[in-house]
Amino acid sequence: MAKIIALAGKGGVGKTTVCSAFVRILGETRPDSRILAIDADPAVGLATALGVEVNETLDDIRCEIIEKAEDGAGKEALELLGEARYRIFDALAEKERFSFLAIGRPEGAGCYCSVNTYLKAVIEMVSRDFDYVVIDGEAGIEQINRRVMEKVTHLVLVTDASKKGLQVARSIYEVADRLVMYEKRGIILNRIDDEELAATLPTDGMEILSVIQSDPSHARNDILGKTIFELEETAPVYKGAKEALEKIGI
Ligand SMILES: Nc1ncnc2c1ncn2[C@@H]1O[C@H](COP(=O)(O)OP(=O)(O)O)[C@@H](O)[C@H]1O
Ligand SMILES: [Mg+2]
Repeated sequence: MAKIIALAGKGGVGKTTVCSAFVRILGETRPDSRILAIDADPAVGLATALGVEVNETLDDIRCEIIEKAEDGAGKEALELLGEARYRIFDALAEKERFSFLAIGRPEGAGCYCSVNTYLKAVIEMVSRDFDYVVIDGEAGIEQINRRVMEKVTHLVLVTDASKKGLQVARSIYEVADRLVMYEKRGIILNRIDDEELAATLPTDGMEILSVIQSDPSHARNDILGKTIFELEETAPVYKGAKEALEKIGI
């Protein structure tokens, strides 16, 4: 079974940044393993960070299945997804060292929770075919509450120094005990330059995996539309992501 690593936290704190760095580092340190990156955030971004071109999303497959199913919203559609296993594999974008799947940006409020139901099924489905699944989660606590992340084995929270960021991380940390079957979890403190400040943040016993400073080289790459693969290994984002992976035993 795959090790399933998920990033969670408030919007804008660095989930996609760290997620892309995890995918790069896993590819470098485990060149023979099968790695799947999943962009589970409808706000997208992971594809750009990884330099992937997305042709088909999970939402496209979902719509296709719903058209075929008589009761498109219900159980039958999920059963059809099981049968359409090959469609999921068709939809993966293949890079040299990893595969990629995006949930897409479903239109309309009513549809959205149902793509999460599909996502949960897909995570279970692919965990037999990959060694590592790295999931860039949606901002906030919704996917944890809906048990989409139930099978996640390594839960990595990300926050900046903001009160709101820490609050979201703490809430997820707490509910994860009931709703995620994790083996290991912890938090990354991102964009923090003042070490003294880092030590005084109310992390309430959460295990700190790494503290990442603001990284001008990453910020510059982002503006120029460069991928994570173009970042120097000495960059704080790269080093902080590597340290965090080691701390969670990966
Ligand atoms: N350590 C860092 N130093 C500088 N910029 C960062 C750092 N971490 C993230 N960023 C920038 O902050 C913004 C939000 O980061 P992102 O990873 O997209 O957050 P999220 O996925 O949680 O919304 C991006 O523009 C990103 O490049
Ligand atoms: Mg993001």
